[in-house]
Parts: sequence; C-alpha cells; structure tokens
Amino acid sequence: MNETIQHSLTYKKYVIDDNLRYFKPHSTKIEKTFADEIFSSLNRDSKYINPKFFYDKRGSSLFEKICDLPEYYPTRTEIEILKNLKSDLSQFLDDSFRLVELGSGSSTKTRLILDIFAKIQSSIEYFPIDISEILTESSELLQRDYPDLEITGIIDTYEGGLEFIEKYDDKKNLIIFLGSSFGNFTPKEGKIFLQKINSIMKNEDLFLIGLDLVKDKKILEDAYDDAQGITAQFNLNVLSRINDELDADFVLNDFKHIAKYNEKDQRVEMYLKSLVNQSIIISKANLSLKLTEGELIHTEHSHKYEISQIKELMDETGFNIKQNWLDVNNHYALTLVSKK
Ligand code: AVJ
Repeated sequence: MNETIQHSLTYKKYVIDDNLRYFKPHSTKIEKTFADEIFSSLNRDSKYINPKFFYDKRGSSLFEKICDLPEYYPTRTEIEILKNLKSDLSQFLDDSFRLVELGSGSSTKTRLILDIFAKIQSSIEYFPIDISEILTESSELLQRDYPDLEITGIIDTYEGGLEFIEKYDDKKNLIIFLGSSFGNFTPKEGKIFLQKINSIMKNEDLFLIGLDLVKDKKILEDAYDDAQGITAQFNLNVLSRINDELDADFVLNDFKHIAKYNEKDQRVEMYLKSLVNQSIIISKANLSLKLTEGELIHTEHSHKYEISQIKELMDETGFNIKQNWLDVNNHYALTLVSKK
C-alpha cells in the first residue's frame, strides 16, 4: 500500500497553516488509565509512582524552575555543550537532513540545533514527537522565530512516532533525545528503546543523545535536593495531582522528599517518605492505602553513565559512535551515533 495512504488511515492530519501540521493516531491505543496505574503501583509492598506522572501543568512548570536552579547542572551544561557544537555537528549534516525530536523539548535546546541547520539549509523541516498536546504550544512559539520552518508534529508515544518517521519518506533524519530523559529508563528498558530507534533508522540517519555522567555524590545529591526546596515541591506535587485527579486525601506535610545517590546502581533515587502511620483514600483508584511511619514511595530513578558504558551500550544496541562532546567539567555528554 502507498505509504501516504497508510498514514492517512492510521493518523488524523490537522493542517494549521502552510508550515504547520500535526498527526495524531485515530484510535488511541488501549492504554491503562492514570487510576489503573496508580492502583497497581501503590497496592503492593514496594510502592512506586511512575515519574511520567510528575508532568501535569504545575509539575512541568516546577521542572522548568528546577532547570534554572544553581544546583541542577544538567540543563545548563547540556546547553553549554550545544552552544559549542556548531561546525562540529554540521560537518555530519547536509541539506537533506530533517530534525526529529523525541519530546517537544525545551525550546532553547531545539533552537540551538535549528540554528546549526539554518547555516546549511534554506528551508528546515522539524518533526517533534510528543504524547502531550503541549507540542502544539511549543510548535507555535517556534514558528514565531523561525517563520520558514516546516513543522510536522506527531502527537503519539515515542515508539509510535518513530514508526511514523520510518514509513514517512526517504529523507535523512537527525533524531535527537536530549535532557538526559533516557536516565529514567531501567538499563533493560533503555536497551530496548535504543534498539527500537536503531531498527527504524536508515543507514544514513543520525541519532544524538544527551546523557548525564557519573560524578561526585555531593554534586548529584544537591542537584536533586536543592536548598530552595523546588525539587521537593516537584516530587510532592505528584501527590497533589493524585488528590485532584483521583479524588484522594494525601496530606503533603505528612511526607518528606528524599534524594539519594545509589553508587552501585549509578542512579539518583527519589522517594516520598511517610512521616507517620497513615491511611489514604484514593477514591477513583478504589484504593485505601496504608503507609507506616518511615515507609518509602519510590518516584524516580535518574541513571548516570561512564563514557565507557555509553560506548558499550551503543555497541550492544547496534550503533557506531561518531563523536562524544563533553563540557569542561566532564559532567555531561552529548553522543552522536549512526547505525553499524
Ligand atoms: C527530566 C528525567 C532528566 O532525572 O534529572 C529533575 C527529572 N527529577 N529533578 C532528571 C528530574 C528531579 C530529570 N529528567
């Protein structure tokens, strides 16, 4: 079947203007609801809440604040590396590449890459992939500053969006996955994800990933437990979200934000610790949750890597490293790879 026809069968196309269009799957796949996921992740001995639930409106704006904190070095460091990239990256590109971004991204970083494209291309194509409709807002903001930019937003899971790209056309793709978002995957999930990316890439495609590196424990723990308590608010906000959306009665003062670096597993672990014996009703999840004093709810893993481990990981998942770029302190890495 003609690919264009196939796309129009599975995705609905929304044309905003000549330079902006969105694709959204017709039938949203059968996904577990927020209530189902919260029920099964809290109705067990070792309790957890998936970090993807941090990002409601308030959570997303708290995350923006985190990115500006003096202790939270990853965002600022990645931006510093991107600012220095310029011709180092453009030597791998030509005018037949488009930019594909996993996550619709903080616009600062997208813009830095678009500026590199603009030096070698007169009309740039940008395909952001994001499950959230927020994509439409960030796209419209980009359009104001890059009036000739051709944006095709894909409102879908990363996997869905990647399959969309694979079937779309023969143009070369630079796929970017920034912000160390990869660090939230378990090692096993991470490998599956990289293999997925590899499997949809053409031989000429490139993939650029931002990863946070292993460093001094104090720097890591401060980055996830800042003096102003913004990260604590960000962590606790997931309980407010459950209160609002699932009709629950969490009292935020009965919990404490915890961030610890686990050296063996190379990850910062975040928890919400119950300060008292308590019982919480989560009405819409049909759950009466009992917590003992000191009990932990796990909320996030943020994995850190050694350069040698990045090499190994890429090798195992079918990639060749083209180049690594690090900041002056070796705190963070941008890695460019192609298919083996
Ligand atoms: C968005 C997953 C990259 O792990 O550093 C920041 C999220 N959590 N502070 C990270 C986060 C607490 C962030 N990522």
